Amino acid sequence: MTKIFVTGGAGFIGSAFIHQVLAETEDVEIINFDALTYAGNPENLKYLDATRHRFVKGDICDKEAVLQSLPDDCEAIFNFAAESHVDRSISSASEFVTTNVLGTQVLLDCARAKNARRFVQISTDEVMGSLPESDDAFFTEDSPLRPNSPYSASKAAAEHFVRAARETFGLDTVITRCGNNYGARQFPEKLIPLMISNAMHDEPLPVYGDGKNVRDWIYVEDHARAVWLAYKNGKAGEIYNVGARNERKNIEVVKAILDALNKPHSLIKYVTDRPGHDRRYAIEASKTERELNWNPSVSWEEGLQKTIDWYRENQDWVNNIRNGAYREYYQKMYGASLK
Ligand code: NAD
Ligand code: TYD
Repeated sequence: MTKIFVTGGAGFIGSAFIHQVLAETEDVEIINFDALTYAGNPENLKYLDATRHRFVKGDICDKEAVLQSLPDDCEAIFNFAAESHVDRSISSASEFVTTNVLGTQVLLDCARAKNARRFVQISTDEVMGSLPESDDAFFTEDSPLRPNSPYSASKAAAEHFVRAARETFGLDTVITRCGNNYGARQFPEKLIPLMISNAMHDEPLPVYGDGKNVRDWIYVEDHARAVWLAYKNGKAGEIYNVGARNERKNIEVVKAILDALNKPHSLIKYVTDRPGHDRRYAIEASKTERELNWNPSVSWEEGLQKTIDWYRENQDWVNNIRNGAYREYYQKMYGASLK
């Protein structure tokens, strides 16, 4: 059995990754280390093969806890754990510094202490900042790091520590930088699940600014596969951009969701823009396609339909979240502007 250590595996992308790895391999055993913050949900781990998946509740900042759970013969560490929502980072940045920066450094120290063979850091295109709107510029692996939000600043800082571990200590590291993910089990604070869940409840859909900010969307399972191939085929010390060449304006995404749910566009409500709102992300992924032998396989139309279907069929999952502390968050974020 090949043992891998996955952090943040109860969240959106980490759980998609675990589902995929267990489905597509027979000889991989996963230790899923997750603090179960508001974004971590044990429901996301239902139906997993318990003989090859072990869940450990723990904080990546807690070195002793990580060392206790990290096996001596660990093949790879996949670091998905993070505070991941830009709006929350604007309200309060310190949790982002703690988990995303300090937590990553703790994991790097533990990887060295236990001789883990490879360390895969799940990063984001947002570390490269924002691109001009009407331009044919794209993010490449050589684009400068110019993070604009506290979230992206913390992810960029984490990347620096990963690089330093490679350069200083020779740790075998790989970094992936993916664009905006969508798919099943995404917490309904992010654009797509928020809009689906509000539309299903006939509540207003809050669109920031003029709605023309562009994101480069990728179906979560395509991202998960790229992470696996980065571990399998990536070169030590390299960065791999992951994107599906699928740029969309936010307003276009929101209208597509309303149309698919047969809901009126009158639910759209333009609200005050996010401070420091990045205008456009667009990823040039040809290095990843070439070197990792990866290609996205799910089209935007197919992926969005599958996502909407999942939220329709799993309304309990959504409602359990919407009934809890989420209400307070939602009120604080949107209460005044949606009156
Ligand atoms: P998420 O917020 O859905 O999940 C994060 C998970 O990490 C949760 O299960 C949470 O409980 C866990 N976690 C948080 N703090 C922890 C800590 N201190 N110790 C242990 N576990 C902790 O996030 P996501 O959208 O699944 O993102 C996963 C990773 O992918 C993040 O590193 C994020 O930066 C990166 N990423 C996300 C996107 C996207 O579109 N969502 C795009 C590119 C990269
Ligand atoms: P989000 O899903 O938060 O991802 P990120 O900020 O990491 O790209 O937001 C995606 C886009 O949607 C971003 O341009 C902000 C916008 N947005 C809204 O217009 N309204 C909302 O309520 C949210 C959450 C996001």
